[in-house]
Amino acid sequence: MESVTSDNLSAWEHAYSQFETPEEEIAKFTARLLALGADAWPRQAQVVELFCGRGNGLRALERLGFRHLAGLDLSPTLVAQYSGGADCAVGDCRVLPYEDESNDIVIVQGGLHHLHELPDDLARVLAEARRVLRRDGRLVVVEPWLTPFLSFVHFVCALRPAQLLSRKMWALATMIEHERETYEQWLAQPDLILREIRRSFDIAMLRFRLGKLMLVGRPRRQAQK
Ligand SMILES: C[S@@+](CC[C@H](N)C(=O)[O-])C[C@H]1O[C@@H](n2cnc3c(N)ncnc32)[C@H](O)[C@@H]1O
Repeated sequence: MESVTSDNLSAWEHAYSQFETPEEEIAKFTARLLALGADAWPRQAQVVELFCGRGNGLRALERLGFRHLAGLDLSPTLVAQYSGGADCAVGDCRVLPYEDESNDIVIVQGGLHHLHELPDDLARVLAEARRVLRRDGRLVVVEPWLTPFLSFVHFVCALRPAQLLSRKMWALATMIEHERETYEQWLAQPDLILREIRRSFDIAMLRFRLGKLMLVGRPRRQAQK
C-alpha cells in the first residue's frame, strides 16, 4: 500500500486527519458504541463498518472485544492508514462486496452525508445493508443532524479567530467547506432520510444527541414501497 503523507491526502482528507488524533477518535467511537448498546452485542458477531475512513471505528470495536470485523471505504489513502486486524477494503458502499445475510451488525458513522444523490444513493446503501444483514441483524447509524447544538457549532467554527485558536475548529470548517454540497443536502432533509431508513428497517433506537442522529434498526422482513 502507498505510504500516507500530507502531500497525497486531498484537502478534505487532510482536514479529517487533523480533526482528532487516532486515540481521540478511538475514545469517541468507543463511547458512542457503548451508548448504542454495544455492551450487549455478542462478541462473536460479524460486524462490518461502512464508510470506515482510516478505521478508528474498527479499532474501537477491536478494543471492545469484537474479532470478526470488516470495513469498506472509497478512499485508498484513508484505508491505507488502517493497520488493525479487520478485513478493511477499498470500495463503494452503494455496492457491497459481501454475501447475502452474512453479517450481524452493519455500522455507518458519518458516511451517509457524503452521498451525492438523495434519496437514490441512500436507498442503495440501505438496501445493500439490509441484503448483507442476517434477519436478526442490526443497522447502526451515527450521522450529523441539524439540532440547535450543531447550528451553534457551525456558527463558532465559521469564525476566523476560532479557526486560528483551535485545530479542531479549523479542521471542521475545512471539512464542511469541501463537503458542503452533500452535507447541506443531508442536513436539509431529515424527514426524507428517516422515511428512507424506515422503508428497510424497523427502528429500535432513535436519539438526537449533540448534533448527531444515533439510530439502531432491525431489517424489515419486506422492504416497504
Ligand atoms: C466523514 S468520513 C467518515 C469516516 C469514519 N466513519 C469516521 O467517522 O471517522 C466519510 C467517509 O466516507 C467515504 N465515502 C464517501 N462516499 C463513499 C462511498 N460511496 N462508498 C464508500 N465510502 C465513501 C469517504 O472516503 C470518507 O472516508
